[in-house]
Amino acid sequence: MLIIKNTLDYLNIYQAQLENKKIGFVPTMGFLHEGHLSLVKESVKNNQITIVSIFINPTQFVKGEDFATYPKNTEHDLKLLEANNVDIVFIPEAEDLYPPDHKSLIKIEINQNFTNKLCGKHRRGHFDGVALIVMKLFSIIQADNAYFGLKDYQQYVLIKNLSLDFFPRTKIHALPTIRESSGLAMSSRNTYLNDKEKKLASLIYATLLKFTEIIKISKTINQEELIKAFEALLLKESTAFELQYLEIYDDTLNKIKKYKKNQTFIGTAVYLNNVRLIDNLIF
Ligand code: PAJ
Repeated sequence: MLIIKNTLDYLNIYQAQLENKKIGFVPTMGFLHEGHLSLVKESVKNNQITIVSIFINPTQFVKGEDFATYPKNTEHDLKLLEANNVDIVFIPEAEDLYPPDHKSLIKIEINQNFTNKLCGKHRRGHFDGVALIVMKLFSIIQADNAYFGLKDYQQYVLIKNLSLDFFPRTKIHALPTIRESSGLAMSSRNTYLNDKEKKLASLIYATLLKFTEIIKISKTINQEELIKAFEALLLKESTAFELQYLEIYDDTLNKIKKYKKNQTFIGTAVYLNNVRLIDNLIF
């Protein structure tokens, strides 16, 4: 497994060895778990070369978020990637992707119709930062296939759209959310939870599942009522929960009035003590 620490080194290797190979790419922020590895495995299965990037991207964290404390264990990540037959790990420094002496004249700003929903609404500027880093990484890596998790559904919709604009060569693949046996969606941020909190956190998925059944049999979708009921169910279990949002759309994140089979999206963000957890389902 080759470890590459900056863009120019990658481009040299690309020109010398990779240009004619089928390349799969999995961008991550590290602290890898089975969710990340499911993307890696899919890439390894379907490409000649798999490249994983590990980069905690400063521009996608908004004020007051956990950029400074985001969990990190590069040594362990590298072991997992090696064991999963990854060919190249790209671990750039911030100065490589955001050179301090380069004043960029480009500003990436995602349409507000999109960022007024779900995580976009509560993390102002987050998706501008995600789009910026993914554009940089895609331009460097020049992959044929790139793999993303449905756990971050809004991010996937954004990147799919972005690739149609700028990276027609890179096919975007979305893979299902990997969960703990309790149902809790795996996330690097789950490391912030103690055992009791983890058990409580699994109620988020259980409650989402319950709501899919309610929505399937409702004549119309009444978001306000659903939000109140969702919040009440969580609070009944613990006052440590605080609902940030519960939103229902079709699978392109457009509004819907009625349940559409296999094309209905329900997504939520919940604080458990100070830890922000997201989850969603398409049903
Ligand atoms: P990160 O949170 O590290 O996630 C990297 C990829 O793993 C994303 O595509 C995410 O959706 C996927 N993933 C995370 N948890 C998952 C789970 N439980 N099941 C399946 N897939 C899961 O998302 C980012 O990093 C960053 O925003 C990034 C795209 C790398 C840009 O900085």
